[in-house]
Amino acid sequence: MMYRLARSAIFQLDPEHAHDLAIKNLSRFTGTPLDLFYRQNLPPRPVQVMGLHFKNPVGLAAGLDKNGECIDAFGAMGFGFIEVGTVTPRPQDGNDKPRLFRVIPGEGIINRMGFNNHGVDALVENVKKAKYEGVIGINIGKNKDTPLENGKDDYLICMDKVYDHAGYIAVNISSPNTPGCVHCNMVMRWTICWLIKSTPKSTGR
Ligand SMILES: Cc1cc2nc3c(=O)[nH]c(=O)nc-3n(C[C@H](O)[C@H](O)[C@H](O)COP(=O)(O)O)c2cc1C
Repeated sequence: MMYRLARSAIFQLDPEHAHDLAIKNLSRFTGTPLDLFYRQNLPPRPVQVMGLHFKNPVGLAAGLDKNGECIDAFGAMGFGFIEVGTVTPRPQDGNDKPRLFRVIPGEGIINRMGFNNHGVDALVENVKKAKYEGVIGINIGKNKDTPLENGKDDYLICMDKVYDHAGYIAVNISSPNTPGCVHCNMVMRWTICWLIKSTPKSTGR
């Protein structure tokens, strides 16, 4: 009932405006009595994957909280992990609007956001402030105006900055919405992954 009411109100708004409003209010409500609208007390269902301990197997995918502004609110909803980003070294606006579309009959969304985000430094500050005790994944990408041949540097900059604050790092090398991301061929993708895995932080050297 509450979902149906909220849905019909939200669907009066343009999709991206609705998203921005939700993010703004979630970050405002966290830690106040108003968070009872989304706070849940879920039974634990722990899983262990590659050395990481998740309190349950349901996580939030990248793209909803691109700047890590609502980590504690999503934590209060009960997510077993929260993946923030995709984040790039420098802030960027992303693609021109409109870039987010509801597909109502299919109950889906089409997006071509283009990594709109406030930059890696802002994200790291938000992650540092979060009190959420679950696993925080950080998803990293390249800036749109970084030439393809320097794209690897963007991943390495982000990797270096987020490393000490992430439970895991997701390397986004396949976004169709950023030039040089989906266009990079298999060898370039492999090179980026190899470079990232060879950094001193990654190898623990
Ligand atoms: C509006 C929107 C923005 C997204 N932004 C990102 C992003 O920045 N990075 C990323 O890796 N995935 C992004 N995604 C993809 C989601 O993380 C997820 O993989 C995708 O929506 C598939 O899951 P679904 O079928 O449940 O929607 C985005 C998806 C949507 C709808």
